[in-house]
Amino acid sequence: MSVLITGGAGFIAPNLISRLLKRGDTVLAVDNLCRGTLSNLTEPLEHPRFAFAKVDLTDLGAYRSCLDGHTGIGPITEVWHLAANSDIPAGIADSSIDLRDTFMTTFNTLKVMAERGVRRILFASSSAIYGDLGERELTEDIGPLFPISNYGAMKLASEAAITAAVESFLESALLFRFPNVVGVPATHGVILDFILRLRDQPAFLEVLGDGTQQKAYLHVSDLVDAMLTIQARATRAKVSAFNIGSTDDGVTVRRIAEETVAVVAPQAELRFGTGNRGWVGDVPRFRYSTAKLQALGWRPSLDSMGAVRRAIREIAAQGRPR
Ligand SMILES: NC(=O)c1ccc[n+]([C@@H]2O[C@H](COP(=O)([O-])OP(=O)(O)OC[C@H]3O[C@@H](n4cnc5c(N)ncnc54)[C@H](O)[C@@H]3O)[C@@H](O)[C@H]2O)c1
Repeated sequence: MSVLITGGAGFIAPNLISRLLKRGDTVLAVDNLCRGTLSNLTEPLEHPRFAFAKVDLTDLGAYRSCLDGHTGIGPITEVWHLAANSDIPAGIADSSIDLRDTFMTTFNTLKVMAERGVRRILFASSSAIYGDLGERELTEDIGPLFPISNYGAMKLASEAAITAAVESFLESALLFRFPNVVGVPATHGVILDFILRLRDQPAFLEVLGDGTQQKAYLHVSDLVDAMLTIQARATRAKVSAFNIGSTDDGVTVRRIAEETVAVVAPQAELRFGTGNRGWVGDVPRFRYSTAKLQALGWRPSLDSMGAVRRAIREIAAQGRPR
């Protein structure tokens, strides 16, 4: 299989690329390196069935030329679309960021797929599409959906554009709704943020909000495993959405801060803010149903706390991202 991966130099894609190469696929990864870095791809770049191209996917002409210049990988059979803005607060401050990097990358990806007759897409969506539904359990068919961040809005709009494309030219679309994913190579996220701040200022750690925000976390190795399991086992519907996540209630930001301090700067004082939101558009607590995924026989190898602990050690050992 020849696979195109967008957002290939970010955090999650390199983990997926290793698995796809192991499964025997040929992989072309594209990224404009606005948040990712080539050093995240050191291992795949050594592989004979891997190629990388730097391109801004919002520039349709450049996107087309890039694919025309890489016909050596053979006709693309499926696209894993992971490119997006991953800095949610930045997207709140400037809504054009998510329009561009989260939505237009999807829009243009669908356009080049239609032109080239590529008929399968696997999309990195997010729990952010659900907005803040309080204590209601978030199953894949819950609605109506009212996202509370521009990022969530543009992910939901991307899902909508994809389902419309299924009606016109796509054979199938898998919409993976990710939880908070942790691991390396970290490019963003609460653990990386805490570690970088403790390195700059080892005496204290200031936490946004009162630390009671509670979320489920999944290690990136489990996330990739879940996506490949869904692709292999889900019944062949034209469009399927799957929540991916752990089966527990999650971990509070306070626990993450305590665990990070214990590993990185045990003498640091923890200072909390007020309110249970880290930023506008942050959903403080949600009940994520993963029953549909579990029905495929999949379980994560680590619960939220286990994933967080492993990621703290891994991120503490990784160099500072550029
Ligand atoms: N990490 C998480 O916890 C999480 C949670 C939910 C959803 N997701 C989704 O998973 C996907 C991967 O996330 P990640 O954590 O690896 O993020 P990331 O920021 O590390 O990777 C995204 C990549 O997309 C690239 N990109 C952005 N705009 C681009 C553009 N215009 N042209 C070309 N490349 C562009 C960036 O340079 C970056 O390398 C994203 O779609 C993200 O929204 C991630």
